[in-house]
Amino acid sequence: MMAAFTLAHLSDPHLPPLPAPRLAELASKRALGYLNWTRNRHKYHRREALDALVADLKTQGPDHIAVTGDLTNLALREEFPLAARWLQGIGNAERVTAIPGNHDAYVRATSDCFAQVFADYFRSDSASDAKFPSLRRRGPLALISLSTAVPTPPLFATGTLGRAQLEALQALLEGLSAEPLFRVMLVHHPMRSTSRIKRLTDASELLAILRRHGVELILHGHDHIHSTMWVDGPERRIPSIGVPSASALAHGRHPAAAYNLFAIEPVGNGWRCEQVVRGLDAKLRVIELNRVRLM
Ligand SMILES: [Fe+2]
Ligand SMILES: [Fe+2]
Repeated sequence: MMAAFTLAHLSDPHLPPLPAPRLAELASKRALGYLNWTRNRHKYHRREALDALVADLKTQGPDHIAVTGDLTNLALREEFPLAARWLQGIGNAERVTAIPGNHDAYVRATSDCFAQVFADYFRSDSASDAKFPSLRRRGPLALISLSTAVPTPPLFATGTLGRAQLEALQALLEGLSAEPLFRVMLVHHPMRSTSRIKRLTDASELLAILRRHGVELILHGHDHIHSTMWVDGPERRIPSIGVPSASALAHGRHPAAAYNLFAIEPVGNGWRCEQVVRGLDAKLRVIELNRVRLM
């Protein structure tokens, strides 16, 4: 029997430490963000936590790794090459897929940096240009990447897919419908949010597409917590899984850094998928936190 395909999922590394911004770069929404970083966030997003998590992930040897956004903090131009170097340390673009989060498009001035620097990490197989949605096939998986990253006013962390991307997603799913693929949708924002200023603004349109066409699994970041939501597909409900920030120390309602491993294999006409949650304990050791049979 074929061994299960393993997909690792981590998110929101908010790569620490933050390079010092130039004064001109702070004349924007970033001023508030920088204040927040120097006052609070630098205490909770730690390089040693991220490094411990990634070292453990490497020993697990997953077949593919998905990183669902917020690689940077203030989308400073200097942050992108640092984030790129970090991502290369996890794996090459063949083995890693990365999508942007709202922090990677924090301000308009650098909102196209992610697509330029990380094009190889989300580009569709055999495509010459890199755009969203993208489709990459790995083993039995179809990895469908979306971008919800758009610049927003201060204090807003909303995301938006936009009509063009939603229509392209619908066409992409229609095109895949005859194939026996395990479709994984990567998206930074969660499918549902109780926060008006953190939500995906066109979530209802996305949910309508999912109800019609389905996917097997949705992976997201943004909330920095362990999360499992179920959304409606055409025949069965779809698990939508979120993870804590990959660099976080536990603080407030936010747990310490963790990642998920999904072991996926075909059984009969369907799939078997087991989720293993691995994360940091109080001594920054990575331990198994949970194990769930999703399907
Ligand atoms: Fe984040
Ligand atoms: Fe986010």
